[in-house]
Amino acid sequence: MQETVWWKRGVIYQIYPRSFQDSNADGIGDLDGIRRRLDHLVWLGVDAVWISPVYPSPMADFGYDVADYCDIDPNFGNLEHFRALITEIHERGLKLIMDFVPNHSSDQHAWFKESRSSRDNPKRDWYIWRDAAPGGGPPNNWVSNFGGSAWQWDEATGQYYYHAFLREQPDLNWRNREVCEAMHDVLRFWLDLGVDGFRVDVIWHLMKDEQFRDNPPNPAYVDGRPEIESLLQIHSTDQPDVHDVIARMRHVLDGYKDRVLIGEVYLPIDRLVTYYGRELAGAHLPFNFQLLQTAWHAGRIAELIDEYEGSIPDGGWPNWVLGNHDQPRVAARVGEDQARVAAMLLLTLRGTPTLYYGDEIGIGRVAIPAHAVQDPWEKNEPGLGIGRDPQRTPMQWDASAKAGFTEGTPWLPLSEDHRTRNVAVQASDPTSMLTLTRALIMLRRRSPALSIGAYALLNAKGDVLAYERRCGHDRYMIVLNLGGKEELWNLPENVTGEIVLSTTLGGADQDVADEIRLRPDEGIVIQCHR
Ligand code: GLC
Repeated sequence: MQETVWWKRGVIYQIYPRSFQDSNADGIGDLDGIRRRLDHLVWLGVDAVWISPVYPSPMADFGYDVADYCDIDPNFGNLEHFRALITEIHERGLKLIMDFVPNHSSDQHAWFKESRSSRDNPKRDWYIWRDAAPGGGPPNNWVSNFGGSAWQWDEATGQYYYHAFLREQPDLNWRNREVCEAMHDVLRFWLDLGVDGFRVDVIWHLMKDEQFRDNPPNPAYVDGRPEIESLLQIHSTDQPDVHDVIARMRHVLDGYKDRVLIGEVYLPIDRLVTYYGRELAGAHLPFNFQLLQTAWHAGRIAELIDEYEGSIPDGGWPNWVLGNHDQPRVAARVGEDQARVAAMLLLTLRGTPTLYYGDEIGIGRVAIPAHAVQDPWEKNEPGLGIGRDPQRTPMQWDASAKAGFTEGTPWLPLSEDHRTRNVAVQASDPTSMLTLTRALIMLRRRSPALSIGAYALLNAKGDVLAYERRCGHDRYMIVLNLGGKEELWNLPENVTGEIVLSTTLGGADQDVADEIRLRPDEGIVIQCHR
């Protein structure tokens, strides 16, 4: 197992830095805060931390609008704090993955300021400038992911610029060689500081249709959904030549030892797997978001695992994600009881799991009052239920007034249950979600079958999903009850074993042979005798 590279055998933990730990009472988490909490991560047993962007930013999109790719925003600290953090991360045997946001910068980035200063500025072509359509108006019908036209008129120079997200996030022009070179220098800057890899923001967006053709309407669009869904993004994203751009980024990483390239890709499985790249020269891990979007149904999940497993190119390594800063919390989606089953699924599937901060204590739906809304998408398209603040609330560490997150006023409200649902309380509760998450990670770490072994579906019937993980003689069966009723499940013939973990954290260590009774919402891990 030790011979397998870390990003295959390990568990990744995503930190949303604004909300993890504040160290200077301004209500916003920071790098020193993360450093103070590293022992939690070691105790939990994860291998790598991915931190969402901490670069200087006007925070129009909370750091995904980068004003300088090679520095740290004062809200989070400075480069000295960063060096201290990475040193301590490595001292503990952990890895650090940075968020890299190459598709767009902030409109306050020096590059964009130059680019918009005049039509003949040398950096004009670093961004995407187009004339108005012949009859006036935007160059084409492309819509911003946060609503409204994706084109912003610039009065001073008489052209539009393209922004796939906020108008404060102009898209860079990856067809321009200087942009590629500048961005490769950024990668080297952080690699030289010792970072172990990157999660690349909206990697499938990097290239756009050279002719800027209109996107066709989406026939499946229904009113009340975000405007971006009204069009099929076939010309604005996922262009064939994006893979050359990614291969060149990958080449930069390959100049260093054991670094990982992860790509954010929201596409159907058949398109997603193309991001491994030709001859696997693309992303090591194109993020697999299937579990975030699936109906919570045993048969459907079995199908999507099979489809995904069957689509990964030879030599490609799978991965699974159950939560992130853009998606509703898993406990809000499937309920508190099923969140335990979901954690067992995430941590026993084949492929690198990414765990989102706070999911280990089961933070659920956090209501955000209108006056507290921060998310620019929610502000642009209010009332559609797409706001991302509920999944970005502060981490709940203990039962003190501000949950141990800050001594100031948190930038987003804390979940109401923070006095009872927090790390301190759950760490000493043998039946808590935190205890379960840790037990699952520990089991995975100990077992070659669970961390790097093969996957095979056993069956999916009614509410029960059962599969096997195997590596030589190390063999486990995972049986998940996705429903709220008791279920019976039969061990395959000639198999005996013992239940080594249950999501209820009771009834473990029972020898089993043939029929097993699963409690409502219970998942179990069986270690097979042979
Ligand atoms: C990614 C990020 C999201 C951000 C968007 C624009 O999807 O995860 O938080 O708003 O890109 O950068």
